[in-house]
Amino acid sequence: MNSAGSERILSASELQQFVERLWRCAGSEEREARLIADHLVSANLSGHDSHGVGMIPTYIRSIAGGYLKINQHARLTKDAGAVLTFDGQQAFGQVAAREAIDAGIERAAKLGLAAVGLHNAHHIGRIGFWAEACARAGFISFHFVNVTGDPMVAPFGGSDRRFGTNPFCAVFPRPGQAPLLLDFATSAIAFGKTRVAWHKGAKVPDNALIDSEGRGTRDPAVMHEPPYGALLPFGQHKGYALAAMCEILGGALSGGRTTYTETLQGSHDAIFNCMTTIILDPQAFDAPQMQDEAQAFIDWVKASPQSGEQAIQVPGEWEEGNRRRREQHGIPIDHSSWREILAAALEAGMPADEVERYR
Ligand SMILES: NC(=O)c1ccc[n+]([C@@H]2O[C@H](COP(=O)([O-])OP(=O)(O)OC[C@H]3O[C@@H](n4cnc5c(N)ncnc54)[C@H](O)[C@@H]3O)[C@@H](O)[C@H]2O)c1
Repeated sequence: MNSAGSERILSASELQQFVERLWRCAGSEEREARLIADHLVSANLSGHDSHGVGMIPTYIRSIAGGYLKINQHARLTKDAGAVLTFDGQQAFGQVAAREAIDAGIERAAKLGLAAVGLHNAHHIGRIGFWAEACARAGFISFHFVNVTGDPMVAPFGGSDRRFGTNPFCAVFPRPGQAPLLLDFATSAIAFGKTRVAWHKGAKVPDNALIDSEGRGTRDPAVMHEPPYGALLPFGQHKGYALAAMCEILGGALSGGRTTYTETLQGSHDAIFNCMTTIILDPQAFDAPQMQDEAQAFIDWVKASPQSGEQAIQVPGEWEEGNRRRREQHGIPIDHSSWREILAAALEAGMPADEVERYR
């Protein structure tokens, strides 16, 4: 572990050990602590710090508020053959989604395809993590996700927060290569990215936020200090329309809830995700040339003359690059986030002298 300017730099294994220990101190069983650490550290490795270990203080507050429940599991509420529905029972999303996705993969392996509804799970984090699990098993997957009752995003044409950052994700596995992975919030930027910018005292890009009066702003404080503003959907009406479908397909179809007056959580610490996942076995299609076709397309788009500094990438390549770099050089965490994480470790019950060793 070392300090570089305004950042702490930890290796993935140091961070994994710290996070596992923290959740063991909080009362998690060994498997739960490992699953949470696997997920959070993997999000940091992939470059999505908004969904990495910086979430720990929120989880600790969510436990204190009685929203997130330690050592719970997903419960199968309906088995319709190709379709499985699970109640996440307020469990850690890292546990509930693991159990639901594993069951879906097993069913898709038998039937060629499967759909999984998961509702009432606490924050399931970076959705790409679940898609990568499907891809590792050789499957394609699509994920529609809502964040029940925690409005942050204004509808296209609206001026206040009405629904969550509702991510959409899709993955295409490629033997011997990283999968193609589309994984993003339907808001112009993820909420967690406003948190990271707020901690760093940085501005966010244009056209991502409005203040409490509905005026455009680049100040992330409007998402963290009253009077609250809202995120805007990405891509104007198109992002808003996709967010709406994530709310319905993720929230309503999974057996969960959508966002409206009666389902408002009243606390940003209570992050409840619903996710509908479709898992497909590519081998079940009559498409023996599919990998060659995918590669030919990738070669074709990458041959486009570069318009600026930014190299042409395929979906998932940004995360792969981060993973390579961070596995080698470590994971940077800004001091302000790290201080909050250490305070959360103390609250979780980690002995003070142990916390001090990480300072
Ligand atoms: N659990 C939740 O409630 C929740 C809510 C919102 C977001 N999230 C997660 O937050 C994370 C961050 O979301 P985000 O909206 O900030 O993502 P983002 O804006 O960083 O976009 C990421 C996606 O864009 C692709 N990409 C990046 N650069 C590219 C390029 N040059 N060419 C082609 N593709 C490129 C990436 O491979 C990835 O698929 C995601 O993992 C998402 O699942 C979770």
